[in-house]
Amino acid sequence: MMSTRHFLTLLDLSSNELQQLIQRAIELKQMRNQGAVYEPLKNRVMAMIFEKASTRTRVSFEAGMAQFGGHAMFLSPKDTQLGRGEPVEDSARVISSMVDIVMIRTFSHELVETFAAHSRVPVINALTDDYHPCQLLADMQTFHEFRGSIQGSTVAWIGDGNNMCHSYINAARQFDFHLNIACPTGFEPNASLVEANQDRITLLDSPEEAVQKADLVVTDVWASMGQEDEQRQRMREFKGYQVNPALMDLANKDALFMHCLPAHRGEEVSDTMMDDPRCVAFAEAENRLHAQKALIEFLLKDLILN
Ligand code: CP
Ligand code: NVA
Repeated sequence: MMSTRHFLTLLDLSSNELQQLIQRAIELKQMRNQGAVYEPLKNRVMAMIFEKASTRTRVSFEAGMAQFGGHAMFLSPKDTQLGRGEPVEDSARVISSMVDIVMIRTFSHELVETFAAHSRVPVINALTDDYHPCQLLADMQTFHEFRGSIQGSTVAWIGDGNNMCHSYINAARQFDFHLNIACPTGFEPNASLVEANQDRITLLDSPEEAVQKADLVVTDVWASMGQEDEQRQRMREFKGYQVNPALMDLANKDALFMHCLPAHRGEEVSDTMMDDPRCVAFAEAENRLHAQKALIEFLLKDLILN
C-alpha cells in the first residue's frame, strides 16, 4: 500500500503540490460551470466528524463528495461514541477501516494528529483551535483568480492571532508572500510559529501600518468557536481593529478584502466593507467547494488511478 498522505496543515504538501492543487481547483470549477459530470469516486465514502458548528465546511465537503459520485457521512459527537469517551485511537482504527477518507473539525489540534496517526486513510483538518488549512486553499485560489500569482505580494492580517492567522503564516511560507500581522497586545499568534517564520512576517499593533502596500487584507471574528465567554471582553480589546473602506483606502489601489466567514458585521468588519467591490468573501466561500474537491482528488489519487 502507498503511504497515506494527510492534510493537517499547509506544510503537509510541498509548495509545488499546493500550486498544482490550486490550478486543479480552477479547472474543476470550470468543469462544474460547464455542467460536466466527473465521478471519479463512485462508491467512495468520506466520514465527516464535526465537534464544532459549520455551514461552509460541511456543505462544501458533502456537496463535493456527491458531485464526485461518492458519499459523505456526517458524524457528530452527540450521537457517536466519540462523545462518550471512546479513545481517539480506537475510533480512528474503526472508522478508517470502513471509509476512504476522513475530515475532522474539532478543538484540539493534537486530537487530529492522533487520529491521523492511527488512520489507514487520509485525514483532513477541517479546522482546529490552531489551524484552518482548507480555508487557505480557497483563499489562495480566489486571489489567483482575481489577481494572478500571490508570490511576492504583501498580505495584511488584521485582528486575532487565531487559527486562520496561523494558517496565513504557513501560507506566507508555502506561497512565498509577506504577511503583516496587526493584533492587539495579548492576541498575537503562537510565538514559536512566529519565530520559525520571522523572515516572512512583520508583527505590528497598528492596522493602518499593516495595510500599507498590501495587495490583500484579511480578517476574522474576534471570538472564535470555543471563546464565546470572552466575546464581550474581546469587543473592548479589539476596538480599532475593524476592517472598513477607510482602512482599505490605505492599502494598494487594487487590494482585495477576504473573510473566511461567518462575519460579524459591525465588529471585525463593517457592513459597508462586506458590500464593497473590493470584498471577495463570497467568491472565497464558493471556492471552498472547488479547492477541497481538488484536495480530495489529490489525497485519493491512487484510488482514482486503480
Ligand atoms: N469558513 C468556514 O470554515 O465556515 P464554516 O464554519 O461555516 O464551515
Ligand atoms: N476563527 C474562526 C474561524 C471560523 C471558520 C473560528 O475558529 O471560529
